[in-house]
Amino acid sequence: MLINFDAGPATLPRTVLEQASEAIRDYNSSGLSILEIPHRGKAFEAILEEANSLVKTLLGLGDDYAVLWLQGGGRLQFSMLPMNFLGADETAGYIESGHWAEEALHNAVLYGHAEVLGSSKEDQYRYIPDWGTIPEHLQYVHLTSNNTIYGTQFFRFPETDVPLVADMSSELFSRKLDYSRFSLIYAVAQKNIGPAGVTLVVVRKSMLEKQKRTLPGILSYKAEADNNSVLNTPPVFAIYCSLLTLRWIHSIGIEAMDRRNQEKADLLYTAIDNSKLFYGVARKEDRSLMNVCFRAHDDSHTQAFLDFARERNITGIKGHRSVGGFRASLYNAIGIEAVQQLVDALHAFEKG
Ligand SMILES: Cc1ncc(COP(=O)(O)O)c(C=O)c1O
Repeated sequence: MLINFDAGPATLPRTVLEQASEAIRDYNSSGLSILEIPHRGKAFEAILEEANSLVKTLLGLGDDYAVLWLQGGGRLQFSMLPMNFLGADETAGYIESGHWAEEALHNAVLYGHAEVLGSSKEDQYRYIPDWGTIPEHLQYVHLTSNNTIYGTQFFRFPETDVPLVADMSSELFSRKLDYSRFSLIYAVAQKNIGPAGVTLVVVRKSMLEKQKRTLPGILSYKAEADNNSVLNTPPVFAIYCSLLTLRWIHSIGIEAMDRRNQEKADLLYTAIDNSKLFYGVARKEDRSLMNVCFRAHDDSHTQAFLDFARERNITGIKGHRSVGGFRASLYNAIGIEAVQQLVDALHAFEKG
């Protein structure tokens, strides 16, 4: 097998792939494949109930939060959020820390007003911008807690009574945080949770009452919550795989996962910082534990190292097409041995 550092669709735990394969053949000895079970039947009801409960347990959240499994990816969340919670004459705050944050902002102005609270765009998003004092009139503040393309991460969050909304697509379940500070969290599955095709949304139930306009059910958080994410036919298999990953994370524990992720990132950043050929791109204090972005001082080393790594069965380390260089994504399912192999490859390449 290859060691896959891709930013997403990303590596899933081996045990999840094995259990998912078995479920495709025969789900729980039911005589039906997981691909064939009815979405309104008892078996899927049980999958949803366990998944929802594990999400809340892992995030330390109570029954004042609803867990939703939606379709349309991160991009639908960029517009669903303002569609639901931003009236035409109202304003929301956005922290512009990367491309995805910018996309979210562009969608907000289709429905209301948006104020940029801080931006690092002028410096190619190398750092997490300051946001200053949060104005009280805002309907919500949106941030992208981990910037997949640039390898930056928030390690502190705005102190405010304005509802906080976070796109945690490339980090959810990777670290211990006080998640109750957020009124809405969303994360596409294909990085740290499961296969593409489903997006996890965790929303404070009191937010659901604030819907600003009449919406078709499929675009309304409240309607999805009222129907337990089964308003239409949900992606049963993607949700089932997500449940398998959640069980795996739970068996390790979020604190242990957090420590493991720190160790992995330290190992790789230390190798990059000590390298003569490569350098880290993001500002040190904002460096992401999930997506490690680095570059070669000499451009001719970029393709050479990609080829060199591939010969060692390492794949998925090419930087996003908009920034180039390298990016190693160290999501939960990447073990420390995999990171060590990448570090060994860096050292071997450097020795020539
Ligand atoms: C932080 C973040 N948000 C949103 C997205 C967009 O997700 P999707 O392709 O599912 O729309 C990505 C994709 O990489 C991402 O990294």
